[in-house]
Amino acid sequence: MIKIRNLKKSFDSKIITDGLDLEIKRHDFMAIIGRSGEGKSVLLKQIIGLIKPDSGQIIIDNQDISKLNKEELHEIYKKCGYVFQFAALLDSLNVFQNVGITLLEEGEDPEKVRPLVLEKIKNVGLEEDVLEKYPAELSGGMKKRVGLARTLMLTPQIIMYDEPTTGLDPITVRLIHELIEKTHQDLNATSIVISHDIEVFKYAKTVSMLHEGKIIYTGPAQTIWECDNPYVYQFIRGLEQGPIKTK
Ligand SMILES: Nc1ncnc2c1ncn2[C@@H]1O[C@H](COP(=O)(O)OP(=O)(O)O)[C@@H](O)[C@H]1O
Ligand SMILES: [Mg+2]
Repeated sequence: MIKIRNLKKSFDSKIITDGLDLEIKRHDFMAIIGRSGEGKSVLLKQIIGLIKPDSGQIIIDNQDISKLNKEELHEIYKKCGYVFQFAALLDSLNVFQNVGITLLEEGEDPEKVRPLVLEKIKNVGLEEDVLEKYPAELSGGMKKRVGLARTLMLTPQIIMYDEPTTGLDPITVRLIHELIEKTHQDLNATSIVISHDIEVFKYAKTVSMLHEGKIIYTGPAQTIWECDNPYVYQFIRGLEQGPIKTK
């Protein structure tokens, strides 16, 4: 579904993405792990076109996105949903307006948008009474749910989550992971979750690790604790990156 070849991106003279290759199969649920500042968010933003790569290829559904015109790109990005790191809700809008924003901005009648928004709000485990609330009145977990509901308005085939559980308590972390898994099943989607939360391995199918601008490992999530790739071994156990040892 997504193929990335020899992707490169620098900011000023700092190389962030350094000839990265990655393949994400249709219906996969992939967790991308890696330390803070390794360029995980920059990678996702390149996939969804928020950051332009310096070179390399990103192929989504057999189409090289660098070769598409604006309309063709729009068609591709309609399939892609992106859930931002900090939910990115607009503080001056209530939940209904935040979730329905695209349709409302297109001038759609709010009365028609309301049932669609309500359906998504229920899909993410919230109730109708939340619609009139403002982001400041919501807990961290509720904000993440609302952010996901907004993404679901587009019924995406590919959903990318940037650190969906950062800053949440362990119970909310589990609930959000369960919600991501349910969404993955309900939409029969391809899901990509950037995380440094090791709990994600219980839900993901595949794990890829980003290190020094490259994907240095891809393997099944189920057996990740037996993985003897030294970088993965140390990362998931929170060990210092000293001399690389596996045992
Ligand atoms: N728009 C940008 N302009 C300049 N530097 C950036 C920009 N976005 C990210 N960076 C830099 O790229 C590096 C990787 O950032 P990021 O992808 O956010 O890391 P991660 O998500 O893995 O924690 C960081 O050093 C960050 O400062
Ligand atoms: Mg990030």
